[in-house]
Amino acid sequence: MCQLLGFWSGLALLASPTRLEVCLSPGCVADGAMSTFAKLQALAPPDKICVVAGGCQSACGMGPIVIDQKESTKLIHKRIKSDKQDGPLWTVLLADVLDEISPEIIHGYELCQDAKAHFLQKDFASSVKLYQEGIALAEKHAILNAAKAPIQNGISSSIPLQTIPTISAGTLVHPSLQWLLEAYRQLGHAQLNILDVEGAFQSALASIELSTKSDPMCFELLASVCQKKNDLEGELEALQSMFELIPTNFETLSAKVLPREISNKWRELGFRMTTLQRVIK
Ligand code: FES
Repeated sequence: MCQLLGFWSGLALLASPTRLEVCLSPGCVADGAMSTFAKLQALAPPDKICVVAGGCQSACGMGPIVIDQKESTKLIHKRIKSDKQDGPLWTVLLADVLDEISPEIIHGYELCQDAKAHFLQKDFASSVKLYQEGIALAEKHAILNAAKAPIQNGISSSIPLQTIPTISAGTLVHPSLQWLLEAYRQLGHAQLNILDVEGAFQSALASIELSTKSDPMCFELLASVCQKKNDLEGELEALQSMFELIPTNFETLSAKVLPREISNKWRELGFRMTTLQRVIK
């Protein structure tokens, strides 16, 4: 994976891609825009299509709304749901590039979405199996796909943190790889739930590598794994790495920027880190 990541970070292409703007204002988010946004980012070839977060287009209630900007034309597409393989998301938005979308990424992405559903139902054994299949199928292709992205300010199509309700949006991972990063993290948590601690350790390390050590949630996973292994020093190191990556004022951020369950968890982990520092001294 390292070689592929190096390949991605070394590339700089000049052509500017078509821009797809997904409205992530509350009305469209209620209609499923986050899922549309995630799927478009995962599948669209980044050298041809740039998928970014957008604001309200006064078409609330007809979402998810996607603005398709090709040169001087601007088209507003309505009801772009992520769950229709043969619906508008494919035939309208990605029509020009369908041949270029890797079937392995499409299938791997779908497997990971199934895995996520099983995870939410607490069927962790099935979730692990599906995540492992999805990642094995798509990882290499997804990293090569991300390598096609034009580089702007070190990362292509960066997303304003305040528009995405997840702190992971602030990582250095290319947007088309966010789903893969989430898959590795969720796989690790599912493995912990079925007591596959060594598997969870490997997933945590893979997620840290994929994120180039920029995602606090990967270190949070590693801390949980170390705690299960009773490796107090490893846990403390993981927590320290995690807290180096999160804003020091996280407790004052609004729930729109940082969901309450995450800030509460981080507060608890802060207490845990202090305790470990005292015990290990
Ligand atoms: S909330 Fe998306 S168009 Fe208004």
